[in-house]
Amino acid sequence: MKSAKNELLLLGFNREDFSSPKPEILIKELIDISTKENDIVLDFFLGSGTTCAVAHKMGRQYIGIEQMNYIQDITLQRMQKVINGEQGGISKAVSWKGGGEFIYLELAKWNEKAKKLIDECNNLSELERLLDELYEKYFLNYNVKFQEFKEKIIKENEFINLSLEKQKEIFYCMLDLNQMYVNKSEMQDSKFTISEEDIKLTNEFYKNSK
Ligand SMILES: C[S@@+](CC[C@H](N)C(=O)[O-])C[C@H]1O[C@@H](n2cnc3c(N)ncnc32)[C@H](O)[C@@H]1O
Repeated sequence: MKSAKNELLLLGFNREDFSSPKPEILIKELIDISTKENDIVLDFFLGSGTTCAVAHKMGRQYIGIEQMNYIQDITLQRMQKVINGEQGGISKAVSWKGGGEFIYLELAKWNEKAKKLIDECNNLSELERLLDELYEKYFLNYNVKFQEFKEKIIKENEFINLSLEKQKEIFYCMLDLNQMYVNKSEMQDSKFTISEEDIKLTNEFYKNSK
């Protein structure tokens, strides 16, 4: 772990940005024994990007998935440095000279937008005013008794006396967590207002021009 932190440091990142980075040499061993050139390596917890950086240097294709915004400041910049031929980690061992490319895409938000609207409410009246929009535009859990919640529960003292934080938690629970982002199969639906450019790019990504 110490050597992994030093690798990040040498790339110009803060050692403490990640609590448990892996050294490139360890990931190299794993990729060596489990894949061959051009295979696709999937890292669905991308973090600081060690796995994808090593996969790139070893001539593998890769897909990395991350939920946090620090991807912009750390991981994307790290991958850019890899392309520019940085000489840290396993670079010398694999005679890395730089090159290659990657594409970066963000998922189109659906219920994630509703979550932000809830976050931004400053009091119960604002939450209450948001209710109809949540019902009409977003995807609520199938078992939410919406009318009962809107007409009765939200007006009861038991709910009114909860802290704003607890009231928001109850609102978050209404959102279906499987619908936080727009599904490809539904991206043409006008309610999502996905641009023609994004639809085209998505189809190209999946090699499907329909
Ligand atoms: C320890 S890092 C992984 C290190 C990484 N595999 C590497 O090669 O450097 C774990 C990462 O997983 C991310 N993560 C956790 N749950 C996630 C989820 N459901 N979707 C996407 N990313 C997630 C965290 O935000 C964190 O950045």
